[in-house]
Amino acid sequence: MSLAAALSRIDADLDASLARLFEIIRIPSISTDPAYAADVARAADWAAKDLASIGFEASVRPTTGHPMVVAHWTGPVERDAPHVLFYGHYDVQPVDPLNLWERPPFEPALITRADGSKMITGRGSADDKGQYLTFVEACRALVATTGKLPVRVTVFLEGEEESGSPSLTAFLEANKAELSKDLALVCDTGMWDPTTPAITATLRGLVGEEVTIHCADRDLHSGSFGGAALNPIRVLTKILAGLHDDSGACTLPGFYDGITDPPKPVTDAWDAIGLTPEEFLGPVGLSTLAGEKGRSTLEQIWTRPTCEFNGIVGGYAGDGFKTVLPAKALAKVSFRLVRGQDPAKIRAAFRAYVTQSLPKDARAEFKEHGGSPGLALAFDSPSLAKARDALTEEWGKPALIIGAGGSIPVVGNFKQQLGMDSVMVGFGLDDDRIHSPNEKYDLTSYHKGIRSWARILAAL
Ligand code: BES
Ligand code: ZN
Repeated sequence: MSLAAALSRIDADLDASLARLFEIIRIPSISTDPAYAADVARAADWAAKDLASIGFEASVRPTTGHPMVVAHWTGPVERDAPHVLFYGHYDVQPVDPLNLWERPPFEPALITRADGSKMITGRGSADDKGQYLTFVEACRALVATTGKLPVRVTVFLEGEEESGSPSLTAFLEANKAELSKDLALVCDTGMWDPTTPAITATLRGLVGEEVTIHCADRDLHSGSFGGAALNPIRVLTKILAGLHDDSGACTLPGFYDGITDPPKPVTDAWDAIGLTPEEFLGPVGLSTLAGEKGRSTLEQIWTRPTCEFNGIVGGYAGDGFKTVLPAKALAKVSFRLVRGQDPAKIRAAFRAYVTQSLPKDARAEFKEHGGSPGLALAFDSPSLAKARDALTEEWGKPALIIGAGGSIPVVGNFKQQLGMDSVMVGFGLDDDRIHSPNEKYDLTSYHKGIRSWARILAAL
């Protein structure tokens, strides 16, 4: 009965929920770029005030990096257990290339498509402001209609997720007692498709490396010196090209050591849903799988590790032409890891390979950009089953247990540091363009996402 009232309230209050989402999207909380540090802090303040307006005891907690937001529900609850810790992040990715955005990234809008469906536009609309607010807005409706929450809730929001979570480990260590709860709920993942809800049970980890190859002690004229002087772009690209063999596998020694497939019932279920390369790649203008030969689409994005190049810089790439032989060249390389791989070993193997491949007169400089292991969570815990039933109720279709190709480092920290399991529920879609220009969040993701959390909280 009380759930029904909360669900009606969510429907009636959707415009106001949307207005609140627009407010936080307007704050450009780009965590990786120091130029936006004040905006990141402003977003943290907004998030804390928003939670306080529901009745949470909310605080902004400084760290050596961007602040965390912690908010406890200290009002009445229906049941004392479980005490859940909800996690989301209020920071966003950079917006470049800006010229490809159809509307300004931090001026959100509600757009109606030709088929009548609606979407919310803006950086962070899906990843993760819209997603984290689905939970907060569900709490708001439950409190407004019942005066209480179904279970005890603490909300924990990070402002550094998109930049490798540098302050996270120390923060969790220092606030262990306050943040260790019975269960973590994480809203930073996606649905299977626009009408099929999902719980994510595997995440890939990440090792980020930046390597700079230095050769001459200055830029040189490529006519005067070309041929005789070593070119760092040639050195770098040859090294990068050596990281994959013809079957698409990564060549680093020991790269695949320790990997095991998920349990058979899970892989069988994934085989049954299937996903052809055309279905997955068609919408982004591609047709053929580029990863390890002999591996299915779902394996390539969920259960197999990768080595990818995310950026490469060297010499002159501006308008016109410059006959320069540069002094250095740089690449940003990332490895997506699956359970069983050790991030430290992968980083060491990469550095050893690069160093061994250097010709005389070339020198490599490395910079670390975060590392987190791949994870496989329990596929059959009681809380997962409850969340699954609640999602199935809301969407009128069985919720699937899926994997995710992306990384959410905190889930590993929760387990290792706080001994806490996570249930990952999210409402993002493959075409949300997260991390790209024209990011959007479907209005149905937001609306039914809020309704889903109200049901999940009531079911726990
Ligand atoms: N929400 C994403 C992770 C994600 C993407 C989960 C797609 C499920 C499907 C998250 O915010 C993210 O992008 N994380 C970064 C982490 C990195 C910077 C350490 C990532 O995966 O690149
Ligand atoms: Zn995210």
